Parts: sequence; C-alpha cells; structure tokens
Amino acid sequence: MNKIDIPSTSRIRHRDFIFGVATAAFQIEGDVNNRLPCIWDTFCRIPGKISDHSNGHIACNHIEYWQQDIELISSLGVNAYRFSISWGRVMTASGQINPQGLAFYRQLIDALNRKGIKAFVTLYHWDLPQYLEDKGGWLNRETAYHFRDYADAISRELGDSVYAYTTLNEPFCSAHLGYETGVHAPGKIGQAHGRQAAHHLLLAHGLAMPVLRKNAPNSQHGIVVNIAPCDPLTQFTDDIRAAKLADDYLNHWYISPLLKGTYPDSFSQLPSNARPHIEDGDMAIIQAPLDYFGINYYTRNVVCSNGRRGFEGFEIVPPKKVAMSLTAMGWEVTPISLTKMLLTLAMEYDLPPIYITENGAAYDDQIIDDEINDMQRVEYYKQHLSALDRAINAGVNVQGYFAWSLMDNFEWAEGYQKRFGLCYVDYTTLVRTPKRSALTIKHFLEQKTDAIR
Ligand code: FCB
Repeated sequence: MNKIDIPSTSRIRHRDFIFGVATAAFQIEGDVNNRLPCIWDTFCRIPGKISDHSNGHIACNHIEYWQQDIELISSLGVNAYRFSISWGRVMTASGQINPQGLAFYRQLIDALNRKGIKAFVTLYHWDLPQYLEDKGGWLNRETAYHFRDYADAISRELGDSVYAYTTLNEPFCSAHLGYETGVHAPGKIGQAHGRQAAHHLLLAHGLAMPVLRKNAPNSQHGIVVNIAPCDPLTQFTDDIRAAKLADDYLNHWYISPLLKGTYPDSFSQLPSNARPHIEDGDMAIIQAPLDYFGINYYTRNVVCSNGRRGFEGFEIVPPKKVAMSLTAMGWEVTPISLTKMLLTLAMEYDLPPIYITENGAAYDDQIIDDEINDMQRVEYYKQHLSALDRAINAGVNVQGYFAWSLMDNFEWAEGYQKRFGLCYVDYTTLVRTPKRSALTIKHFLEQKTDAIR
C-alpha cells in the first residue's frame, strides 16, 4: 500500500535523477534579530493578513537546528536540497556582505557537499528587505539592479559550491499576490502595480543571470515559476476563450518573456493605464539563456467566462465546486494536469531541461502513538510521480523532482495551520518526526537503479 509504483526502468529511479526536498528561508529559519527586517515581517504585523496571527520569529528555528536538519535530509536518502538565502541576512542595507549571515549558508552548503547532497540555492523566495520596499519595492526599477548586485556578491562568495542557483522563486506570487491582489506581502493592490512588479522581477532575473554565470561557471543557473494550468469549465467558446486568457495572465505572462522574450499576444488587452513601463532592451535581458527551467506544480485552475471583456472576463471556479479530491488548502488534486501541462509546454516552447522544483500537499495530519500516517499525502506523491513518469516517457526532458516540503513550516498567509511537510514539526518542542510519506519516499529512493529506459 505504501509503495511508489514506478517501473525500475523509469528515469525517476535512476541514480542520476535529482530527487530532493525543498524549503525557504522565511518559512523555516526564525532568528529574525540577526537579519534585516523583510516585507513578510511587516506583513505579519498587519491584523487579519495571517490566518493564525503568527509570524516568522521562531518558525522551525532552522538557524539553530540546521545540523539536525541536514541529518534529517540525509536520512531520507535524497541527493539534493533546495533552500533559499535570506537577502537581509547576508547583505547590509548599504549593500555590503554581512559575514555572519553568509557564514551560516556557507557552513550549510559545505555540510551538504560533504554528504554528497546537491545544494539548490534560491536567491529570492519572497523576503524582500523592508528598506527596499520602503523605496517602492518591486514597483521601483532600481530594485532589479539591487537584486543583481546581491546575486553578484553572493555568487562571488559561494561560487561553484552551489550546484544550482535559482534567481527567483515564483515571480507570479511576488507580483500578482504581493502587488495586485494583496494577499501576500507587501499587500499592495491594483493591476498596474501587479504588472509593473512582474516586469521588474523578470528584469531582476535577467540582469542576474550573466553575473551568476560569470561567478559560478560550473553551476547551473535558472529560475523557478509556478504553473497552474487553466482548463475551461465547459466546451462553450466563451469558457475556452476565458481559460486561454487566464492561462496567459497567470502563467504565460512569466513563461513567455523568459523563454521567448515577449509577453503573450493578449498583452494588448491590458488597459493602457495598467501597462508596465518597459525599456528598450529589457525583453532581451529577460530572455537570458537558462540551464534549467524550474516548475512548481500543485494544482490547476478551472476557468469560466463572466461575460466581461479582456482580463476582467475570466473567473476561477472554486475548486470545491468541481474537484473530486481537495487538499487542506482547498486545492484540487489532479495529477493528470501535471502530465498535460508538461506536454503542452514542450509543444509550445523550446524548453531547457526541467526540474519540478516543488510538488506536495497540505493535509490535516494527526499524531497517533508518535506516528503520522499521512496516507493522503502518500497517495498524492504516488500519483504525481506516476504522472511525471508519463510525461518523461512521452519525451519531456525532466531531470529532477523536489518534494515540498522537508518539514512543516510557515505557510505564508495560512501561518502554521497548513502542514506540507514530509516531516511533522511540533511547534512547541520543535521536534521533527518523519511522517509515513517521508518513509515511503525514503523506501522508494533505496531502490535506485542504473537502468536506462
Ligand atoms: C509555493 C511556495 C512555497 C510553499 C508552497 C506551498 O507557492 O513557493 O513557499 O508555500 O507554495
């Protein structure tokens, strides 16, 4: 019942396939006094923004428990760990390196390398230093240049000790949720804001890429986007058209500039007062060649038309109205959408090698007799790994997969109430306990092969 049923000839089982676990700085680190405040510290103080009124002050206290966490990672048998660097821990407000902060990540990476676990380092997982937000944050073009300088300073120091650098995690979330709908930090609202922030984030990525390549020529360099494919509710023309617009607005707005150097054609449907300021040469910078394309996949969107025009004309149907199975986040479980999404992307774009950089599910875990039998999560992983195997079989070049997350952590606007971990965290004692899902993946990874299909 607990076995992940993937044929021994699958690339996923090959010993060179990258199979990792992922986390992000703000969600696990704690120790906020030894870094600059970031937009999430500020956002957590605004009443009503975080559902359990929590913050990142302690989180999983990873800064203190990092050695134990590396042992935990290693005990799972994974060969990669994806984590993020907190910008405000490693840089001062005047743009100098903070040696103490950098030393933390250096020792973490050294310890991973000693264990043969590849370090996948994300430079920006949403925790913009507050002093930059005070100057406009991602609405200010200058922030993109500050990001480039931060990427330069850090990659000069860490160089090739990092296996893969990721510039940004999910620019959609930073831009759309942070500056357009306001449900994430910094909580700004408005279409013009969201679109401008998106452009500056993409620009930041493009500016950083050549710098990273120069400083760490033997590392891989890329970006991570989240993709929730958009399916029409019905086969009526209006719904199909609405789903296409939603797909452009939520997904291709990021993918297309990165891989083709242009915004989707539907850009022309943006009202003129919501169009971002784009300078000559920006799109070429954004389209910098990628060593890999990271995709975070959790769920899909079902979309219908509401009869209005342009980007105002689509609506996302609440998953509970259409889904057979939901996670604790209320997200539809739909592994087939992962296969379809990868196949569609491969048809539409000239794709670099793909890593699935996040995939996983929140469920309401119960500890019974010191055990967490998270069978729904086990099922989620089984189904999604099979779905991934199908895409690989059909010819999509996927080189790695990361489970989100190593352990339960601060789930942004949901606080600590939503648990995504393979390991359970008791937030009173901070004890980490591998769940059944962790043990299932460990067992799966014990049977690696050299077979090539
Ligand atoms: C992604 C984020 C990650 C985590 C998962 C559940 O959007 O990158 O930090 O919160 O969702």
